[in-house]
Amino acid sequence: MRMIIMGPPGVGKGTAAALLCNHYGIPHISTGNIFRELYKDQTEVGKKAKSYVDRGELVPDEITNLIVYNRLLQDDAKNGFLLDGFPRNTDQAKALDGYLAESHIKIDAVVNLKAPDELIIERIGGRRVCETCGAVYHVTNLKPKVEGICDKDGGKLIQRVDDMEATIKRRLGVYYSQTEPVIGYYEKKGAVIHIDGTGTIEAVNALIMKALGE
Ligand code: AP5
Ligand code: MG
Ligand code: ZN
Repeated sequence: MRMIIMGPPGVGKGTAAALLCNHYGIPHISTGNIFRELYKDQTEVGKKAKSYVDRGELVPDEITNLIVYNRLLQDDAKNGFLLDGFPRNTDQAKALDGYLAESHIKIDAVVNLKAPDELIIERIGGRRVCETCGAVYHVTNLKPKVEGICDKDGGKLIQRVDDMEATIKRRLGVYYSQTEPVIGYYEKKGAVIHIDGTGTIEAVNALIMKALGE
């Protein structure tokens, strides 16, 4: 399975992706997660990306596209992958198309998760992430066993810098102006699977699985 998951910031792409990747046994390729890891490792590209991520703006395409191509070349992506948060503008979508055509790879499904802004703001506002492994929780919707502590490795749960209210608004603005048009781009090329992302984590997963014929 080779798929793309799209949708506004905080709609639940990463959460749905984790379940799908587990089901299909494919790697979860999230450009946002890759940028955060590159920064944690103190790389120059990670530092450069962070200046954009923290402001809620898109990291320049020349950085982002190369990171994705390199990731797709790794062994674990040979038989399938899930792209989360990429492509995020129509230039990235065209660049990805060129890369995939050269590599004779076809995308099987494009899933678009939808939810209204109020719900998104509530989800992002309550999100907590593990400082160590990046696992994602929510203060009411997906609580860790012990408050403030990651179930997997005991790491401290923190808020992402870009999850401050003013930055959430900027990210939503960037989404509507630059990323939403990518849905139209894929619609012209074939079917996009639109999923109502307002239900529980289990309900959203069930809708996606059904739409994919599982
Ligand atoms: P990225 O990390 O991709 O952020 P995003 O797209 O803004 O999306 P989020 O990760 O915030 O949300 P999500 O949809 O994954 O939701 P989640 O599952 O965590 O990108 C960050 C930044 O990196 C960008 O702003 C940009 O600067 C840069 N970047 C990334 N890709 C780029 C690209 N291609 N080009 C240029 N720049 C790029 O869920 C949110 C919360 O809700 C969690 O707490 C979760 O527990 C909860 N939740 C999830 N689903 C449900 C549900 N069904 N019911 C109840 N609660 C739920
Ligand atoms: Mg995410
Ligand atoms: Zn952890």
